[in-house]
Amino acid sequence: MQTLNVTLGERSYPIHIGCGLLADAALLSPYLKQKKAVVVTNVTVAPLYLEALLGALAQSGVAAQPVILPDGEQYKTWETLNLIFDALLGSHCERSTTLIALGGGVIGDMGGFAAACYQRGMPFIQVPTTLLSQVDSSVGGKTAINHPLGKNMIGAFYQPRLVLADLSTLDTLPERELAAGLAEVIKYGLIRDPDFFVWLENNLDALIARDKEALATAVARSCANKAEVVAADERETGERALLNLGHTFGHAIETGLGYGAWLHGEAVAAGTLIAAELSARLGWLTAGDVRRIEQLFVRAGLPVNAPKLGAARYLELMRHDKKVQDGKLRLVFLEQIGRAVVADTVSEADIAAAIEARCT
Ligand code: NAD
Ligand code: GLY
Repeated sequence: MQTLNVTLGERSYPIHIGCGLLADAALLSPYLKQKKAVVVTNVTVAPLYLEALLGALAQSGVAAQPVILPDGEQYKTWETLNLIFDALLGSHCERSTTLIALGGGVIGDMGGFAAACYQRGMPFIQVPTTLLSQVDSSVGGKTAINHPLGKNMIGAFYQPRLVLADLSTLDTLPERELAAGLAEVIKYGLIRDPDFFVWLENNLDALIARDKEALATAVARSCANKAEVVAADERETGERALLNLGHTFGHAIETGLGYGAWLHGEAVAAGTLIAAELSARLGWLTAGDVRRIEQLFVRAGLPVNAPKLGAARYLELMRHDKKVQDGKLRLVFLEQIGRAVVADTVSEADIAAAIEARCT
């Protein structure tokens, strides 16, 4: 097992990464202050991993109540969030009852938001079971639900007390979901870790084959990058915005097509290629580097062209982005592989041209 730390003063927390962790009572018990807990999960993950987690909790003397939600991005809504509150209130959960999110990023984001709101904040543990949630969404405290007009628009910053990334759970992940997680892994190489990008070029096949050693390296390196960024800029007043490379375009794809049509990681991949295309058109990235990025995404099984919604519709959707300031779009660009910047000086005409060039 490897352990990293997210350093945020008294709200610091560990990320444990390894195989078989969710059944390990000793890892969970120091974080459980009550004999009662709630496990928020979904109909897909519950039959696979709920029993093992409940067993570990029982070994720690904790009786946990499962809350089993429908599965899918389209359920990341107020209505589903309210099902969590119904369960918390119905079973008289207290402010010190721990909420454990067992699942991918949808469950982690919604469970975290419920934990942030319930009685103004209850302890929260992330047990991420997708590659994407292990490398990104379970770390850093962004929690949210979607609104029909914009992705992740309603939410809160609320840090977990513990992240348990059990690599064994990735064995049951569908191939398409593994690929979606790779989009966020590649992101860290692109924005701040050029050596990791090269490592990914050399080890992508092992990751796709779910080699545990390769997965452990990729998850730990991704989490180390994210933990550093979050420790420096928890509330995204600066550097943290770089973690959104490709996301403004990607969120427009997700909202524009209807939540769940494209996976988040797929939309981020296509969005990242629009950002790379635009960076090249501005003279910041070489055509050779754009090709290198495209090749890695193609090898990962990810889309490198975006759906044809029309540039005007993209721009309309992108105006709901959380990085918009004084009505101006702020986007993440690549200066080179391993170095990203945020800029608000690029014209909408240039942005529209790059979108059109990358839409099929
Ligand atoms: P997801 O939560 O929808 O999970 C993907 C699918 O895999 C679901 O059908 C899920 O039930 C299933 N699944 C989960 N674990 C499994 C397992 N071990 N075996 C088999 N099936 C399993 O999607 P995701 O890609 O994990 O997360 C995407 C979400 O995360 C989006 O809503 C996105 O906005 C959010 N996100 C948040 C942050 C953040 O910082 N909070 C960062 C990135 C993404
Ligand atoms: N996933 C982007 C962030 O956590 O800031």
